[in-house]
Amino acid sequence: MKGIILAGGSGTRLHPLTHAVSKQLLPVYDKPMIYYPLSVLMLANIREVLIISTPKDLPNFKHLLGDGSDIGMKLSYAEQAEPKGLAEAFVIGEDFIENDDVCLILGDNIFYGAGLSGILADAKQKVESSDEAVIFGYHVENPRRYGVAEINDKEDVLSIEEKPEYPKGNHAVVGLYFYPNSVIDIAKKVEPSHRGELEITSVNAAYLEQKKLKLQALNRGFAWLDTGTHEALTEATEFIKALEKRTGLKISCLEEIALSKKWISKAELKSQIDGKKGDYYGYLQRLMD
Ligand code: DAU
Repeated sequence: MKGIILAGGSGTRLHPLTHAVSKQLLPVYDKPMIYYPLSVLMLANIREVLIISTPKDLPNFKHLLGDGSDIGMKLSYAEQAEPKGLAEAFVIGEDFIENDDVCLILGDNIFYGAGLSGILADAKQKVESSDEAVIFGYHVENPRRYGVAEINDKEDVLSIEEKPEYPKGNHAVVGLYFYPNSVIDIAKKVEPSHRGELEITSVNAAYLEQKKLKLQALNRGFAWLDTGTHEALTEATEFIKALEKRTGLKISCLEEIALSKKWISKAELKSQIDGKKGDYYGYLQRLMD
């Protein structure tokens, strides 16, 4: 399975913060935002990842993450000329995906919780062994800002709508989606919505129509954090800071995950961080000691 991180968009809601810097490169406590979704793909054992961003911002992502070899991954990059919508990721990524299945994660979504690796492994396995899509629902106070799934007791999806005025439930669809290869053809057929976007919700609605959409609810032990407003961004930073301070362990530390998965050796990591200063590298040094 391949992975795509969609990290474009205009970030207008966060201006002037995002006037010169891509939203997904803003700090969330001690690391750039994109580390969080990238770590989710790593936990799902997805090692080939395409990062999609704007022509202006893409060079900065390349500068930050390179070809991915430092963390035992293979990263490639593609431009999205205009923010036409999330579903365009599969059209832009067609040559990258080839005949594989694909996991899309939004570059501004943060996930944290016990059992995440297991949930990701189950979703991946389900998509690889069937031609069904797997999405995730999260109970939120105000679902109007999101894609909303109406579900029954058995978590069957009954309907799915993008930013409905009158939501049929409280389950927001989070920005993490597992699809079989058919998503490329489905995405190509998506028409712009009333707000002019190629909606991921239209892709999910197409799988629902074919009775091939599975939703897994993330329970209350999970944190799915939003970074869409200044307040949400600050809250995400505070959340990560509180957990990291309390435990002394870092969340979404890419090198730590790569090391634990044996994608890189201690010697490789040592040579990467030699001479580097700061708390993040001090943490990695302590890990190796
Ligand atoms: O965060 C989950 C929500 O993400 C879902 O519940 C919604 O169904 C889904 O449509 C999406 O809603 P948002 O309103 O959050 O989407 P937004 O336009 O903010 O885009 C999400 C991220 O994707 C953001 O970091 C910018 C990036 N993006 C967005 C568009 C429209 C792109 O890279 N390219 C794009 O064309």
